Amino acid sequence: MTTSRAPAPPAPSPPGTPADAAAPDDRLLMDTFMSQYRLPAVAVADRLGLFAALAAAPSDVGALAGAHGLDRHGTSVLLEFLAAQGYLAVHGGRYRPTPSARAFLLPGSARYWGPMLGLGWDERCTAVQQVVTTGTPHGYRGKGIWETHGRSRRHGEQFTRAMHAHSAAPAAALAAQLDLAGCAALLEVAGGVGTFAMALARRNPHLKATVLDLPVVEREAHRLLADADLADRVALRTGDMFTDPWPHGQDRVLFADVLSDWDDERCRTLLERARAALAADGRLLVHQVLPDDAARLSPTVTGYSLALAVMTGGRLRTLPELTALLTAAGFTDCAALPVYGHYALVTARPA
Ligand SMILES: C[S@@+](CC[C@H](N)C(=O)[O-])C[C@H]1O[C@@H](n2cnc3c(N)ncnc32)[C@H](O)[C@@H]1O
Repeated sequence: MTTSRAPAPPAPSPPGTPADAAAPDDRLLMDTFMSQYRLPAVAVADRLGLFAALAAAPSDVGALAGAHGLDRHGTSVLLEFLAAQGYLAVHGGRYRPTPSARAFLLPGSARYWGPMLGLGWDERCTAVQQVVTTGTPHGYRGKGIWETHGRSRRHGEQFTRAMHAHSAAPAAALAAQLDLAGCAALLEVAGGVGTFAMALARRNPHLKATVLDLPVVEREAHRLLADADLADRVALRTGDMFTDPWPHGQDRVLFADVLSDWDDERCRTLLERARAALAADGRLLVHQVLPDDAARLSPTVTGYSLALAVMTGGRLRTLPELTALLTAAGFTDCAALPVYGHYALVTARPA
C-alpha cells in the first residue's frame, strides 16, 4: 500500500538568484501593509475637526497646523496621505475637502460618518493622533523603537526578521543592477542582518562587506551569514552608529532604509561619518523609497511616510531634500536611479 504525503514545500531561494529576476516587484505587498494607516488617518482628521476646518477655509499646512496647535511635520504627512486617498484636493499648496469628504466627513451633515470612524478607533489611531498633535513618534505604545529593541530581545529579533523579509527582494534587485567592479570594501550602516551586504557580496565575489548595527541583530545575522556561506566575506560589527567608530577606507558606504528613520540633524551626523569613512574616490549609496510628484499621489508612499513618522519619527525625503543634506555633509554629484518597486538608489561622491 502506498501512502500519499503532502509534497515538501520548496526551499526559499536566497536573494539574488535568477528566480528573483522574473518575479513581480513588492508593490502589492507594500500596498497591503501601508493600508493599515488609511483608516487612522481619516479618523484622526475627523476627530481633530480638520475636514470641517478646511471646508470653512482651505489652508496650507503651516496655517492649518498653526491655527489648531498641531505639529507641522505630522500635519504635512497626514494631509498628503489624505490627498492621496482622495479625501483632500490640493491647489497652490492649499488643501480643501473633496466632494466625498464633503458628503461624509462634515459634522452636522445627514451623511456624516464620524460615529462609524469612531467605531474603528484603535491603538494605531492614537499613535497617528500623537504624531499629528505633538510630532513625537509613538514607537511601541509610546516607548522608543530602538530603545525597546535594546530592552526586549523578542521585539528586536521580530523586527530584525521583518526587515530581512522586507528587504530581501529589493536587495537582490539592487545587486543585479549595481556595478561594483573595482569595489573591494563596502560598509552597510544600520544594515540589520546584512540583507543588502549579503546580496551584493553574493553577486560580487571580490567584495568584502562590513555590516554595522545594534547588538540585537547578532544572533539572526550570524545564522543567516552561516547559511549563506558568506561569513568569511561579510563581517558583522555591533555598536551604536552615532558614537562607535566606523571602519575607514571604504569604497562604498550604504544606507538602506536608514536615513528615513531620523531627523535632519541625526542624518547630518551619519552622513558626515560616512564622508569620513569613505576613500577619496569612494561612493555613498542611499537606497530608499524616493517620493517624487507621482509618488505623492500614491496612498502607499504617503502612507509609508506616516508609518515612519509614527514608528521612528523619521520621514521620506525627496531628491532635492536629500541632495541638500548630502551637500551640507560634503558630498557632490548626487543622482538618483529607480531600482525596484517604489525604491530608488541615490549616489554621491565626496566633494
Ligand atoms: C529600518 S531598519 C533597516 C535595516 C536594513 N538596512 C534593511 O534595509 O533591511 C533600521 C536599522 O537601524 C538599526 N539602528 C537603529 N539605531 C541604531 C544605532 N544607533 N546604531 C546602529 N544601528 C541602529 C536598527 O537596529 C535597524 O536594523
